[in-house]
Amino acid sequence: MTIETWEPPIDFSEILELLRVLMPDGKHHIDGDQSRLDSMAETYDEELDTVRVARRDDRIVGFSRFKPNPPDADATVLAYLWDVAVHPEYQRQGIGRALMVDLFTECRRSGYKRIWSRTYEDNGPAIALHRTTGFSIIFTKDDSIVWERTLDAAGETQ
Ligand SMILES: CC(C)(COP(=O)(O)OP(=O)(O)OC[C@H]1O[C@@H](n2cnc3c(N)ncnc32)[C@H](O)[C@@H]1OP(=O)(O)O)[C@@H](O)C(=O)NCCC(=O)NCCS
Repeated sequence: MTIETWEPPIDFSEILELLRVLMPDGKHHIDGDQSRLDSMAETYDEELDTVRVARRDDRIVGFSRFKPNPPDADATVLAYLWDVAVHPEYQRQGIGRALMVDLFTECRRSGYKRIWSRTYEDNGPAIALHRTTGFSIIFTKDDSIVWERTLDAAGETQ
């Protein structure tokens, strides 16, 4: 498997199967593929976002997306993980964990000190992934959990 930056221009319709698991119908006004693509278009900024894609068997099997927080920050201190998703046929094979470790490496390389991320409180797999890759809960709000991962200078062991 390889994980690398997906250089813009990005056509998110190439990863519709991933967007379907990331944004199921009925969550946050999502209803159908066009709605998923619209949501990505609304939140994606070519200048600010980094999209990392995992490829195996000549197909995209997972991706992550992060950007500085706040978006207009003039220093790279805090990165916000907007998305992490693995193709349903490839889940539970360590790809989510590999995308997280890759995220830590990339963010550290860019000078970030910590990463925030958000999961729904009923998203068991995402919660388990965050717990097992060193994130801690910093607060809960409505139906969401907000997580933080600090980046040590020495590198990752997990
Ligand atoms: C969350 C997600 C990215 C995990 O990807 P994955 O490749 O299956 O995760 P991994 O195989 O690397 O699993 C890492 C650890 O997370 C936990 N985990 C992952 N999926 C789990 C599940 N369905 N049930 C329980 N624990 C799970 C386990 O601790 C696992 O380690 P283990 O397999 O050694 O037990 C994947 O389930 C997904 O794409 N979900 C839909 C999109 C989504 O909800 N993204 C998160 C938005 S914040």
